[in-house]
Amino acid sequence: MSLSYYLGIDIGTTGTRAVLIDGEGKVIGGHSADHEPINTPQPQWAEQNPENWWAAARQAATRVLQSTAVKREDVQGIGLSGQMHGLVLLDAQHQVLRPSIIWCDQRCQAEADAITGTVGYDRLIEITCNPALTGFTAPKLAWVQTHEPEVFSRIQKVLLPKDYIRFRLTGEFASEVSDASGTTLFDVVRRRWSGDILSALQFNRDWFPDVYESVAVSGQLSASAAGELGLKAATPVVGGGGDQASGAVGNGIVSPGIVSSTIGTSGVVFAFMENPARDQKGRVHTFCHAVPQKWHVMGVTQGAGLSLRWFRDHFGRQEASLGSLLKQDSYELLTQQAAQAKPGCEGLIFLPYLMGERTPHLDANARGVLFGLTGRHTRADVLRAVLEGVAYSLKDAFLIFDEMKVPVTQVRASGGGGRSPLWRQIQADIFGTEICTVAADEGAAFGAALMAAVGAGGFASVAEACTQSIQLANHTRPISENTKRYAEYYQVYRSLYSALKPSFDRVTRLAAGE
Ligand code: XUL
Repeated sequence: MSLSYYLGIDIGTTGTRAVLIDGEGKVIGGHSADHEPINTPQPQWAEQNPENWWAAARQAATRVLQSTAVKREDVQGIGLSGQMHGLVLLDAQHQVLRPSIIWCDQRCQAEADAITGTVGYDRLIEITCNPALTGFTAPKLAWVQTHEPEVFSRIQKVLLPKDYIRFRLTGEFASEVSDASGTTLFDVVRRRWSGDILSALQFNRDWFPDVYESVAVSGQLSASAAGELGLKAATPVVGGGGDQASGAVGNGIVSPGIVSSTIGTSGVVFAFMENPARDQKGRVHTFCHAVPQKWHVMGVTQGAGLSLRWFRDHFGRQEASLGSLLKQDSYELLTQQAAQAKPGCEGLIFLPYLMGERTPHLDANARGVLFGLTGRHTRADVLRAVLEGVAYSLKDAFLIFDEMKVPVTQVRASGGGGRSPLWRQIQADIFGTEICTVAADEGAAFGAALMAAVGAGGFASVAEACTQSIQLANHTRPISENTKRYAEYYQVYRSLYSALKPSFDRVTRLAAGE
């Protein structure tokens, strides 16, 4: 009997995860391989080496195949997901020209402003549905043009992170609509590169790959990659999606009203849309969904899990070593300690702007803040304040969804914020809504595997794949007393950014001069 399996590979920020599902969409194995840490050679910079992603992708995929003992000829399709917006540049020999400037890099405000000047703000919103942001790809490309003209002159291909991995797997240059939406060069309504914007910015159309719908087959596994991964040559590779659209598929965010709150390195609140509604102020992103001919809107916090990781790396060495000794998750040890502090942390408030902020401030200069410290505060309070600050920043996105009349009937938490019972409770209390999770907490890699199954004909549609394979798990209800307290503190949280804005700009200028 011939069995069908599908492989999803998500090139994240901290690591790459590969997940194998069977023909019914059930997860039968997963493996993660870490990346080297983000390189920050200067304030506001964030770079990674694409070769390192490829090594991690190979390791994650081969290990998951070995651990599940699935026969290579039974793997019928591969789906790719990846951190969005990163700039990968290749030369004429298809060699990587410089380290990738990744999504959370904030160096290119001047270039983002120049793009807005050249194209015009209203036209950008009309075509790309979004303003030009420092997080997006085109301003990063313009930065290379200004600051590294020698590199710029050798560009032959411009790829997004997962599309570089696709190239290594298939030899094809291809992308898909959800990830291309975050480049500032894509006509999000018509789902194709914008000739108008490319020519206004004088970027060569030939640098950019062909764009597919997410479930369409974009190429086949080459013989050499098949050999390296232990799969059969010519296995179809579907378009896949940016990590947020893929994660949304993995969480079943494929119809109106069901919204996800995902805390990975970034934090994202994501809603499905039948048609591309825009926020004229551009505070949330309107992008193509991985569901053909559908769109989504999302609010993005740059430093969500990143804030907790920062705490762990700099102040949580003991949990990191204890965790590896006891084979326990260091984040779990940290959140156990956070649970000892009271909701609201007696007025200690954290602004999670460690890598600037997108929703709602769109401000590369915004900085992290711990506000309201007193002599009574403990390490547990600081930890809890970090978790609460991330949830406040995600609440900002829900308020914009309200203004846009995007319905929210159910919130599904995933990533670290979905796994931790404390972080789920904090989210339920701060959002004032019930939070649930899905049983297969595999997020983006799972979503990419489901897309591969749809592309290879295993399911008729993304909606059918989700209905058949996704079950709900934990339900966390808000505690009304906490919700009331958080509503007051949230007002203070909101006031802090505007009060500090001039100081953020000033210290950014000062630090740049050092
Ligand atoms: C989305 C975004 C991040 C990255 C990394 O716009 O920038 O979510 O995709 O996860």
